[in-house]
Amino acid sequence: MKLAATFAASGAALLLATAASAQSFQKPEDAIKYRRSAMTLMGAHMGVLGAMANGRVPFDAQVASRNADVLALVTQLQFAGFVPGSDKGETRAKPEIWTESAKFKAAAEKTQDAVAKLAAAAKSGNLDTMKAAFGPAAQSCKACHDDFRKE
Ligand code: HEC
Repeated sequence: MKLAATFAASGAALLLATAASAQSFQKPEDAIKYRRSAMTLMGAHMGVLGAMANGRVPFDAQVASRNADVLALVTQLQFAGFVPGSDKGETRAKPEIWTESAKFKAAAEKTQDAVAKLAAAAKSGNLDTMKAAFGPAAQSCKACHDDFRKE
């Protein structure tokens, strides 16, 4: 029984890892398109949450929560698009992404963490709680753009 459970668990983990690495890009342009699309989605969903946090649109707990969930999911997947060899073409990615990959990975994890907290805060149904989590998330996006994205 225990062995079977272990196999089942590692199978699920493998499946997740495969989905998250999305290594099926045929050419570098596909990886670039993938990550830019994901970033576009992240920007759009952060925008909705930001508008609520800043009071530009009324706070709606359900809308906030749905947006934050999509944001959190895409943020988990999107860094798979930064595959080696995809530093040329229609991209603003700086070469440091690959030469300082530990630093880049740390920046990605920081955002994943901050966005997970934002998603939890959005579920609280409390605007102040969400506002408090929004700042660090937005700051973590900016920090990586400052270091790893061309003007
Ligand atoms: C670990 C680094 C990193 C983090 C964290 C990060 N980004 Fe990005 N982002 C990039 C890079 C690099 C590019 C340029 C990608 C390219 O052109 O190939 C980019 C591009 C973008 C773009 C432009 C997409 C386009 O090409 O039209 C948007 C919008 C964006 N990011 C939003 C966000 C938001 C919102 C967050 C936080 C929730 C975030 N990013 C977090 C590195 C990061």
